[in-house]
Amino acid sequence: MTLAFPKLPFELIDNPGADPSAAYGDRQAAVLNAEGLAEARRCITAWPGYAPTPLVELAGLARELGIARLSYKQEGARFGLKSFKPLGGAFAVERCLIRAVAEATGEADVDPARILDGTHADIVSRVTVTAATDGNHGRSVAWGSRMFGCRCVIFINEAVSAARENAIADLGAEVRRLKGSYDDAVRHAFKTAREEGWTVIPDTSDSDIVTAPRDVMQGYALLADELFEQLDAAPTHLFLQAGVGGMAAAVAAEFWRRSDAARPMTILVEPKQAACWFKSLEAGEPTSVTGDIDSFMGGLSCGECSALAWEILRPGAHAAMIVDDEAAKETMRLLANGVAGDPPVVGGESGVAGLAALITAATDPGAREKLKLDEESRVVVIGSEGAVDEAVFRDVVGRASDEVAA
Ligand SMILES: Cc1ncc(COP(=O)(O)O)c(C=O)c1O
Repeated sequence: MTLAFPKLPFELIDNPGADPSAAYGDRQAAVLNAEGLAEARRCITAWPGYAPTPLVELAGLARELGIARLSYKQEGARFGLKSFKPLGGAFAVERCLIRAVAEATGEADVDPARILDGTHADIVSRVTVTAATDGNHGRSVAWGSRMFGCRCVIFINEAVSAARENAIADLGAEVRRLKGSYDDAVRHAFKTAREEGWTVIPDTSDSDIVTAPRDVMQGYALLADELFEQLDAAPTHLFLQAGVGGMAAAVAAEFWRRSDAARPMTILVEPKQAACWFKSLEAGEPTSVTGDIDSFMGGLSCGECSALAWEILRPGAHAAMIVDDEAAKETMRLLANGVAGDPPVVGGESGVAGLAALITAATDPGAREKLKLDEESRVVVIGSEGAVDEAVFRDVVGRASDEVAA
């Protein structure tokens, strides 16, 4: 193996709550199911500019890592928003508006096309949606609000970069910056929504609020649906980065729902500072991470697991892994340069986390064995964002993302 990748600290555990032989059960189907996916497909594929994101084959890197295949789902290409997030946030906004129209008109099955074409503008324009965000989720909710014509207020915490703030404001949302962490911003969004009569579109759930977070996750599942169309052989491993766990749960659930016990080995990936899934799976119960949880992988800087995602990932994830911030930076550079003939790929801070974990594990003999990574392995990683923050990308990679892509 000639890959130039430094040895960096990591942690890896088997999930003690994993139930690898279990069929996709009622508790999981109550969160994500075939009907929900069909609705996500009906709505999202009708949005202007929809196209499945590319699945990039990294054959050179796969060879270097001693695995059969490595497929990178390039979510940087999603709707010009550079992350997978619009699948969830904007879809949940549309579902919220469908419910508002149904309530106002008494129509049982509101056609999403009539939300998109402005038929119900009088009702839709009176709705205000809100969300807390580290950047990508808020951008997605703001983008959906603009597309459908409702009002949008987004809360961000102090660590969110000005570039990410501006990207949300440019979509016409009102952005309010607060002191404290992402989790503080989440609490504030709920409080304000209660006071003002707005609808919160969270990308995470506690046990009380489930409708919008379930919609968010169901929208993310379209990403996995696309994967099924794109892959010609079932993967053996999924390395899925987790913040609150919504994306990982949606992808893992889709593979589990369709393949039961034959599903791929699913490894959750987090930064050390915000390893709430690692800690929770280890403890066997949801466990918050407090203190300074900010990581270079900003989208993963979450201290609390989503309760809905827990229903899926507690039994559904096989292992959890902590990767170093430095591994994400190294991976961004490696991808941008292309390994052994691979095409250059633009990956953002949180976007490369799953791949960073794969490289870390595949180059460590103990981790390799524990995760059964070998020359037969077909690995899928989700490149969940591109260069959302251009300044960060340029700083880490040394070139602009356009230059890399060209
Ligand atoms: C780029 C990116 N990747 C992954 C995640 C993690 O998603 P989740 O919070 O649903 O686990 C996020 C969350 O914001 C993100 O922005």
